[in-house]
Amino acid sequence: MLIDKFRADGKIALITGGTRGIGLGIARALAEAGATIIVSARKEAGSVEALSKEGHTVEFRPVDMMDPDAPKALIDGIVADHGRLDILVNNAGVAISRPMEEFDDDSYDRLMTVNLTSVFRACRAALPHMKSQGGGVILNIGSISAIVSNVPQPQAAYNASKAAVHQLTKSLASDHATDNIRVNAIAPGYIVTDMTAGGLEDPVMAPVWRQMTPMDRAGDVDEIATAALYFCTDASSYCTGSVLVIDGGYTTR
Ligand SMILES: NC(=O)c1ccc[n+]([C@@H]2O[C@H](COP(=O)([O-])OP(=O)(O)OC[C@H]3O[C@@H](n4cnc5c(N)ncnc54)[C@H](OP(=O)(O)O)[C@@H]3O)[C@@H](O)[C@H]2O)c1
Repeated sequence: MLIDKFRADGKIALITGGTRGIGLGIARALAEAGATIIVSARKEAGSVEALSKEGHTVEFRPVDMMDPDAPKALIDGIVADHGRLDILVNNAGVAISRPMEEFDDDSYDRLMTVNLTSVFRACRAALPHMKSQGGGVILNIGSISAIVSNVPQPQAAYNASKAAVHQLTKSLASDHATDNIRVNAIAPGYIVTDMTAGGLEDPVMAPVWRQMTPMDRAGDVDEIATAALYFCTDASSYCTGSVLVIDGGYTTR
C-alpha cells in the first residue's frame, strides 16, 4: 500500500526544539508514524508528558545549542544509546526582530548560532553515523524569510540565517545523495507558536501579516508536521535538496 510509505516504524528520530511549537508537532507526527522520538531543547516544557499520554515513546535530552559541543554530544549520545539515528530534524530556532542599527553582536551571535551554526554542527555530527548505517534523512526548518523580506518588522539577521539554512540544505543534499542520505527543508510562513504569539496579537504587525497572506490566516503546526512526515519517510524517497514553502500564499505577493 502506498500509504505505508508514510510509516516510520523502528526509526530513531531526533527533533531539535521538539518541545514546543512546530517541533512538537513534527515529533507528534513522527511518533504517530511509529518512530522512537527524542526531543531536545533547553527546557522540557511538558513535551514528554504530552506525547507519552498519547501513547508515544519519547525522551527528552536537555541541550543548549549555544554550546559548540552540544550538537555532536547530543547526536553521539543518541547513537550510543539507540544504535543509530535515522531522522534528524533541525528545527530549534529563535527570532529576533530589531532595526539593523540596534542589532548588537550578542543578539547576532545568538541568532546565527542557534538558527544556522547549530544546524551545521548537527549535520556534521549526524552524517558519519548515517553513512555508516547505510543512509538517513535530514530535514531542516527554514523559512519564507529566506526568500522574501517580511514586513513590517525589520529582521535582516533572521532572514540571512534562514537563507543560509536553505543553501546548506541544497549543498548537503547534492554532496550526500549517493550516501543514501536525503536532505530537505520546509519554509513555513507565519505559524501559530510561541515565536509568533506577540506578532499575531500586535495591532501594527498582525494586520500586515494577514494582508500579506492570501489565505488570510496564520498556519497551524499540524500543517507543517504533515509535510515533515512526508520528507522524513520513504514517501519522499526521490526527493532531496527540496525546499517546500508552506505559507498560505504569502510568497505569491
Ligand atoms: N512560527 C513561525 O511562524 C515560523 C515561521 C518560519 C520558520 N519558523 C522556524 O521554525 C522553527 C520552530 O519555530 P517555532 O515557531 O516552533 O518556535 P518556538 O515555539 O519558539 O520553539 C522553538 C524551539 O527551539 C528551542 N530552542 C530555542 N533556543 C534554543 C537553544 N539555544 N538551544 C536549544 N533549543 C533551543 C526551544 O526550546 P527552549 O527555549 O526550551 O530551548 C523550542 O523547543 C524555528 O527554526 C523557526 O525559525 C517558524
